[in-house]
Amino acid sequence: MTIRVEHLTHTYNKGLAYETKAVDDVSFEVADGEFIGVVGHTGSGKSTLIQHLNGILKPDAGRIWIGDIDITAKGVKMHEIRKRVGMSFQYPEYQLFEETVYKDIAFGPRNLGLADDEIDERVREAMSLVNLKFDEMAERSPFELSGGQKRRAAIAGVIAMRPEVLILDEPTAGLDPKAHADILSMINSVRERMGGIVILVSHNMDDIAATTSRVFVMDTGRLVRAGAPAEVFSDAGYMRGVGLGLPQATEMAAMLGLDGEPGAGVGAAAGETAPGTILDMDGLVDAIVSARIARGPDAIDGTPRGEEDRNGATRDEKGVGE
Ligand SMILES: Nc1ncnc2c1ncn2[C@@H]1O[C@H](COP(=O)(O)OP(=O)(O)OP(=O)(O)O)[C@@H](O)[C@H]1O
Ligand SMILES: [Mg+2]
Repeated sequence: MTIRVEHLTHTYNKGLAYETKAVDDVSFEVADGEFIGVVGHTGSGKSTLIQHLNGILKPDAGRIWIGDIDITAKGVKMHEIRKRVGMSFQYPEYQLFEETVYKDIAFGPRNLGLADDEIDERVREAMSLVNLKFDEMAERSPFELSGGQKRRAAIAGVIAMRPEVLILDEPTAGLDPKAHADILSMINSVRERMGGIVILVSHNMDDIAATTSRVFVMDTGRLVRAGAPAEVFSDAGYMRGVGLGLPQATEMAAMLGLDGEPGAGVGAAAGETAPGTILDMDGLVDAIVSARIARGPDAIDGTPRGEEDRNGATRDEKGVGE
């Protein structure tokens, strides 16, 4: 399964004074097995873009192929597409509507016409993947769940369809650190289990860096950059220019001047200028330790390289790093 999008444009409220071009001439291809991260400032068109991939939204212009089916062509059976492309929305409460969590998760598989025992197996598997305890949760009303539990139930409903493309729009927004980590590990286990394509929309650059194989950067409706996380996140200036940050550890490494300068002994840690690996928090700690060993205890004084400290001396003038 592959995805191909050509010159996709979507305008809300077309012809009205307040029309918005939410997606503007976007083209890309996704190969089978890719894990795509979609990032972009709020209102940059991420949700609008992905909602075209299973036909929820129709483009004003452009074409979309899911595998070898042009889903923008007339007469395409949308339920065939939705079987293959599963989407969990940014606001999961819109996705839950049955009396019980069980029925909700079973809804999709039931529509596929599966037998009861197959449905049961899928519901149990999906609940276990999203870490919802079957005995406690299956018979509860989805409307009584907490925000994080609703999110998991909604995602379970999508997973239970076993789609070839799994699209998750902000699945971790507003969750506590434990629930957040659970959802991320769930995404990884689902990916291992089902293969296929995963598309993760997120404002959390750490999640994107930790999970995805390619990152799409959206800016005011346009797809302005696509590349490996290490490549995209090595250009801090560009990311700031489109209203985005870097993964936290990468940001800190750059602030501390641990971005792979010669002699630092930290190798090619990521930073404003250094192309290279993206640091996670463990990597940052290692880089700090290595820098302290290589450069002595003054190695990290919080003064970004080249910037003056309170005494007017730059890090280089002080001889740090030599
Ligand atoms: N149903 C709608 N009707 C009219 N305009 C809309 C609608 N949904 C989104 N828009 C507008 O389209 C643009 C893109 O919105 P979209 O929700 O796709 O952005 P996003 O990148 O997902 O933002 P966020 O990060 O806040 O979720 C915005 O200007 C938004 O105001
Ligand atoms: Mg959105």
